[in-house]
Amino acid sequence: MGRAHYNYSYRKELTKTDMGTLIQKGTVVTAQATIAADVLIEDGIIKEVRSGIPSDGHTIVDATHMLVLPGGIDAHTHLDMPFGGTTSADDFETGTRAAAIGGTTTIVDFAIQSRGTRMRHALDAWWKKAEGKSCIDYGLHMIVTDLGSDQGKTGLDDMDDMVREGVASFKLFMAYPNVLMADDATIFKALKQTASNGALICMHAENGSVIDVIVQQALAEGKTAPIYHALTRPTIAEAEAVQRAIAMAEIAGAPVYIVHLSSEDALNQVREARDRGVPAFAETCPQYLLLSIEDNMKNQSFEDAKFVFTPPLREKKNQAKLWDGLKSDNLQVVSTDHCPFCFADQKTLGVNDFTKIPNGGPGIENRLQLIHHYGVNSGKLTLNRFVEITSTAPARIFGMYPRKGTIAPGSDADIVIWDPHADHTISAATHNMRVDYSMFEGFKVKGNARQVFSRGELIVEHGNFLGKIGRGQYLRRAARGGAWQ
Ligand code: URP
Ligand code: ZN
Ligand code: ZN
Ligand code: ZN
Repeated sequence: MGRAHYNYSYRKELTKTDMGTLIQKGTVVTAQATIAADVLIEDGIIKEVRSGIPSDGHTIVDATHMLVLPGGIDAHTHLDMPFGGTTSADDFETGTRAAAIGGTTTIVDFAIQSRGTRMRHALDAWWKKAEGKSCIDYGLHMIVTDLGSDQGKTGLDDMDDMVREGVASFKLFMAYPNVLMADDATIFKALKQTASNGALICMHAENGSVIDVIVQQALAEGKTAPIYHALTRPTIAEAEAVQRAIAMAEIAGAPVYIVHLSSEDALNQVREARDRGVPAFAETCPQYLLLSIEDNMKNQSFEDAKFVFTPPLREKKNQAKLWDGLKSDNLQVVSTDHCPFCFADQKTLGVNDFTKIPNGGPGIENRLQLIHHYGVNSGKLTLNRFVEITSTAPARIFGMYPRKGTIAPGSDADIVIWDPHADHTISAATHNMRVDYSMFEGFKVKGNARQVFSRGELIVEHGNFLGKIGRGQYLRRAARGGAWQ
């Protein structure tokens, strides 16, 4: 009691003396509008957005010539994740710090239910990984690998339990047989459960069984180089799984969200469903928009292992289709699927066998820079659409809106002061991710985060993280209330 009372009066004292922060003279960009306006922040919350807010006693942030954006939301990250016989190289400290420096103020990471264990166990384990480490606010999806032996009853109850804990989304895998892959019955049951509990199923859509046959054949023929990871995963195997996932969701009466969509063939399936009014959603990632087999795996050397992730890099012709998908809203979100493994001592696990290369690549720090430069600067996306696909849409789809994902009175003051003219060259030599290479090495981008606020606190200035490690809070996300309502 005493302690709580003390905290309460301390907080009141703070409010009396803390006169808030006023971001002046910037251009506020939301998904809906671009306006010249000041933004007043008090107690971590956006208080007012209008031009001509009096300076009073506020701490002034001059945003002349700057864009004022809602903090980025990366809805697909894998920090401190055991995978492929090793663990992703960034933990919640290094990964979220790098995210913040790049203008991302919220992530949604994935907890993994191991076969034969309860989801609660995984949730506790991931809270433990994040606690005292996460530098920005974080939510968690739950990866479901099995629903239990009692006709799925335990697992389905667990899903409801997770929703009550703010885990409003689940990922199921149609790929990685014998590791993470779920069969159609499990997927269908999970989809049906979300039709009633309001959560969202995220699908890794690739036909894992077919791919496995192709992979085994390649290995038998002595094809062990990294490029065979890409060549053994045809785009039709992705499209077929997307089509099947959407069909099962349709039968279950539930929405579905396709993660890391990589190809035109797969996108066509999403478009066809959306044209019929089916609530199918999909994200893509910077690597599929900007990298390709031709550009990045042409050496046919082990260096190509830097680009081994799943789905794999595709032929270059897919890139324009994915940009079109973002423009036409057949793709709603750009996430990173940040899952870094060091080249020197992790990717090399597969030096004699591409199936042993840990799957995944780094990107949490560079998402806004890349999408701003190659999307907005090149005229493919408006600034509003840029904000929408990197912040507003993930907030809505994953039950965080309007607390996150916009600049409006009452929202958390997660704000990026974005310098649209800042030149930056992406390189492993200067990036903040704990990984020894960059997938975008040497890419020159115009536009970068100058200051980043998280719940009103200045946590990044000119590339330096100023916040306290572990200041990030777990986000309880709301089920349904998403874009399909
Ligand atoms: O290669 C990837 N994408 N690794 C992370 C796990 C996943 O499938 O998202
Ligand atoms: Zn005032
Ligand atoms: Zn996946
Ligand atoms: Zn992933």
